[in-house]
Amino acid sequence: MGLLDGRVAIVTGAGRGLGRAHALALAAEGAAVVVNDLDAGLDGRATGGSAAHRVVDEITAAGGTAVADSGSVSDWEACAATVARAIDEFGGLDIVVNNAGVTRDRMLTSASEADLDVTLDVHVKGTFAMSHHACRYWRQRFKEGTPVSGRVINTTSGAGMYGNPGQTPYATAKAAIIGFTQSLALEARRYQVCVNAISPLALTRMTETYLAGLSEKDTRKLDPANASGLVAYLASAEAGWLTGQVLRVEGRRIIRMHGWSMGEDYTSREPGVLQPEELVEAVPVLFGVAPRGLAGAK
Ligand SMILES: NC(=O)c1ccc[n+]([C@@H]2O[C@H](COP(=O)([O-])OP(=O)(O)OC[C@H]3O[C@@H](n4cnc5c(N)ncnc54)[C@H](O)[C@@H]3O)[C@@H](O)[C@H]2O)c1
Repeated sequence: MGLLDGRVAIVTGAGRGLGRAHALALAAEGAAVVVNDLDAGLDGRATGGSAAHRVVDEITAAGGTAVADSGSVSDWEACAATVARAIDEFGGLDIVVNNAGVTRDRMLTSASEADLDVTLDVHVKGTFAMSHHACRYWRQRFKEGTPVSGRVINTTSGAGMYGNPGQTPYATAKAAIIGFTQSLALEARRYQVCVNAISPLALTRMTETYLAGLSEKDTRKLDPANASGLVAYLASAEAGWLTGQVLRVEGRRIIRMHGWSMGEDYTSREPGVLQPEELVEAVPVLFGVAPRGLAGAK
């Protein structure tokens, strides 16, 4: 008995790295998996390779059930076709893992329009489009009175939560995925779908230059399969009504992230509208210190 027996999943960007590990883990827990991957380079350009097929071969060799899908998540109609494929091949859909990703690491001043477009297209439009088609299917089933237990699991990152100089396009896209996760969680609970995001840290093609020189032990700790254990749990009925959450997973450690919360405040004591002059005194009180000069500026 697996945690996901009888469930059907789509995993995007599942031809390598984290997505491959998620697809293997979901299949090992009993899910039938649509292994989606365009087979793109890190910069998002299609290579013409067949990464998705290789992962399907791995899953079937291990006794699991999977089908390859080479649509681009940036293509609205291709996402509709991927969802339709899951339903046609496996009789339904229960889980969408939005994982496909690219990086074009640039400072804002050196980023081109294409760098921004490609990054947003894969991460933001891709996550939005695949979820859109899946949620339309789930909402329709719910309206017809069929029990639904849908799961959307998105992928954000530390860059999206904290920012990262040199990754401005990527950080912009990854932060948008958090807003999307929280908003969709509030909508989709109406038709019994839970929506969460993971923020992984794993050794993959995307991180190998940042994580170069790790010991063998640390390399093992950053096995993408650790993040996949969390994904399989979130995809299962055991996760109950957990929704709208961001969970960081660093190797074998998971961390519940707390998002924006209100801090110190100031209310104007003057009649009329808030005046900028009042804030000369009020803002340093909010921060506990006068914010003079720019931290880190040279
Ligand atoms: N590796 C990490 O530590 C880390 C940290 C934070 C977030 N992430 C996120 O995790 C996800 C997976 O990253 P990874 O490290 O495994 O990277 P990866 O480069 O190994 O894998 C990404 C996969 O996405 C596929 N892909 C790219 N564009 C696509 C498209 N338009 N349609 C379908 N597939 C497409 C690629 O072909 C590739 O197989 C990404 O969203 C990434 O931003 C990774």
